[in-house]
Amino acid sequence: MASSENDTLVTVRDVDGLRHRVRSWKKAGLSVALVPTMGALHRGHAVLMERAGAMADRVVATIFVNPTQFGPSEDFNAYPRHEARDFEMLEQAGVHVLFAPSAATMYPPGFATSVRVARLTDALCGPLRPGHFEGVATVVTKLLLQAQPDIALFGDKDFQQLAVIKRFTADLNVPVDIIGVPTVREADGLAMSSRNAYLTADERAKAPALFGAITRAAEKIAAGENPLAATAEAKATIMAAGYRSIDYVDARHAETLAQLGPTEKGGRVFAAAHLGRARLIDNVEVPLA
Ligand code: PAF
Repeated sequence: MASSENDTLVTVRDVDGLRHRVRSWKKAGLSVALVPTMGALHRGHAVLMERAGAMADRVVATIFVNPTQFGPSEDFNAYPRHEARDFEMLEQAGVHVLFAPSAATMYPPGFATSVRVARLTDALCGPLRPGHFEGVATVVTKLLLQAQPDIALFGDKDFQQLAVIKRFTADLNVPVDIIGVPTVREADGLAMSSRNAYLTADERAKAPALFGAITRAAEKIAAGENPLAATAEAKATIMAAGYRSIDYVDARHAETLAQLGPTEKGGRVFAAAHLGRARLIDNVEVPLA
């Protein structure tokens, strides 16, 4: 293999080019990690890339703003796109290949297949974003089949997405280990997200209230408070902080995503709320009492 294929970040836009590189790494006995993204990369993504580099010999990052996971009134057109800046960040993070396919490569004319995961998508973001998880599961299935990595890494911030990906890869016997990586936060607790770019300075100052409220709710649940009461208090706190509206604040079991019963262990508190034009989501573990 030429040294440029080993050491220097290259951008690949077609599936054959990606497969050629991955095949030659595997022939040389090297392990491969995949980190799918939609670009507009931030430090949370850099942490994913670095973790991938610590766990595998070669790292493939993908950037594809996937149209099928956006609803008709969502922010597909406005979604931030900065491929040149992203490339520099991936280079610094030691990534080997950036796979950045076009929409026509991912969804050629006649495309008619989708992957739908039941039950886990019945709650939280599922009913509020019809088709979203089907779009995510379909594109991640394609990326996994295109790159055929040994491991793939995703952030805990999109915890329901991670649960969906773990479910379909297990159900469909996709030969990959799915690794969840803890949410990376700003100093004031706000979860890093590409959509934080939508916040004005005033909104940015209010934004950490979401994390604060769900953290307090999780602590109260751990101390024995009824999850419904704790999440109701969190909703009031979030609205008082200046959020425009709340989609949900909900305590659920981390694996099944079923409602968390009083005194039940293994919970997480999930929230989605609107601040200005941003829809922010976050989740935290209920600590063990
Ligand atoms: O989390 C994301 O950025 C996207 O949902 C993903 C996993 C890259 C699929 O488009």
